[in-house]
Amino acid sequence: MEFSIKSGSPEKQRTACVVVGVFESRKLSLPAELLDNAARGYLAELLRRGDMEGKAGNTLLLHKVPGTEADRVLLVGLGKEREFREKEYRAAIATAVRTLNETGGFDGTVYLTELPVKKRGVAWRVRQAVLVAEETLYRFDQLKSKKDDVRRPLRKLTFCVERRTELAAAEQALSEGQAIASSMNYMKDLANLPGNICTPTYLAEQAGTLGREHGLAVEVLDRAAMEKLGMHSLLAVSRGSHQPPQFIIVKHLGGKPGAKPIVLVGKGVTFDTGGISLKPAAEMDEMKFDMSGAASVLATLKAAAMMKLPLNIIAVVPTVENMPGGGAIRPGDIVTSMSGQTIEILNTDAEGRLILCDALTYVERFEPDCVIDVATLTGACVIALGGVVSGLLANDDALARELLDAGHDGWDRAWQLPLFDDYQEQLKSNFADMGNIGGRPAGTITAACFLSRFTKKYDWAHLDIAGTAWRSGKEKGSTGRPVPLLTHFLLARAAKKVGAGETAQ
Ligand code: BES
Ligand code: MN
Ligand code: ZN
Repeated sequence: MEFSIKSGSPEKQRTACVVVGVFESRKLSLPAELLDNAARGYLAELLRRGDMEGKAGNTLLLHKVPGTEADRVLLVGLGKEREFREKEYRAAIATAVRTLNETGGFDGTVYLTELPVKKRGVAWRVRQAVLVAEETLYRFDQLKSKKDDVRRPLRKLTFCVERRTELAAAEQALSEGQAIASSMNYMKDLANLPGNICTPTYLAEQAGTLGREHGLAVEVLDRAAMEKLGMHSLLAVSRGSHQPPQFIIVKHLGGKPGAKPIVLVGKGVTFDTGGISLKPAAEMDEMKFDMSGAASVLATLKAAAMMKLPLNIIAVVPTVENMPGGGAIRPGDIVTSMSGQTIEILNTDAEGRLILCDALTYVERFEPDCVIDVATLTGACVIALGGVVSGLLANDDALARELLDAGHDGWDRAWQLPLFDDYQEQLKSNFADMGNIGGRPAGTITAACFLSRFTKKYDWAHLDIAGTAWRSGKEKGSTGRPVPLLTHFLLARAAKKVGAGETAQ
């Protein structure tokens, strides 16, 4: 999709379709009123006659509206003006884009970006409009032999802003939105691919391609290299699979040489059967998404490169397939992690933490400014928080605060859970330094407690995205989250550095 920004009167737009909003009940938004004035009350008359109430989700497509230059006018219902907030704004954009795509025009000029949303400026509205538009039009059909193509699909969207003074901020937001949206699509494509295609080796190859396309340094460690480093916890998980494990490192060095990097670690289990602690059959196909953390950190590096962020950022992806098999680890097996701490593997389905712990030890060598790991780690997180917010746990409250704020800014929210020491007891083992499970109570927290034992040397935060990274049911598929959260975190960090007198490169 091609996007642009414009400021101007709606009645003067020469376009296939002008899109304006109508609040419930029958209240024209400001741009709709301008159109109505040019059309000598034609729109108001239609509303009075009962053609449209302005209920959220409703639309009315009009042709050749008198006094206007556009082929069509699309009225989009916005619901009650008093209740019009972030969620309603995003829904209105989605309705507009879906309808435009089905309408047959090649381009649309959208005035919904001028609507006031409480506490949100023009930059937020434009960024979100791009994200929602791309989200609405995203299809994963690369594996279908027949694609149901739209006959005359939408090719160009123009978002309007009220004042010329807003143009610069809107243009900037537009290009940020495009970088985030294309990175979300990149994540979705990777995560939607099935386990027989998206293997650890495939992920490593994709990282190589990403590096070549965006000028990122990529390094991949194979099994032998991992053995040398002593990553026996990670290697234990991959033992049941015929797919070799990979350890991927991608660097975006946009900051000052020597400036401490932000390190992102993503769980890359390309398929999670549970191993010998086998999962039940129902919905097991969804465990192809168990590499969503990996996909999200690779995607975030893509966004950082596209936006040329003046930061040093390193993505680290431990990737394996968790299978039962003759060589697989058994419940009760004890392994020595790279940190030297021993782990009794009481449940082979708690594999994410087993690969992450070695990655978290490995990243010490970067002397990180901070480390954020991203993982579809616990079913308990889905139960606690559902698909609305990601779980956040951290050993540093300032870092947690930054991530919560970034989630709010990117409308990809997280919610903090406590990492109190009291929970550590649940990980006690009779035979090793720790067990890899903490029982049913507070499963998301004990998983983070396990990781916290490997993150003592730096500021660290953990995002459990088990509930937010994909949708189940009819609309099954990757959501592209938490790419908006992570990129907004980086954008805020970059802004802070530039503000502090460091220059962009
Ligand atoms: N990948 C799963 C977590 C998961 C489950 C994500 C359901 C999304 C939906 C993870 O590896 C896992 O199996 N976790 C176990 C841990 C348990 C054995 C302590 C879980 O949550 O059941
Ligand atoms: Mn598992
Ligand atoms: Zn898993």
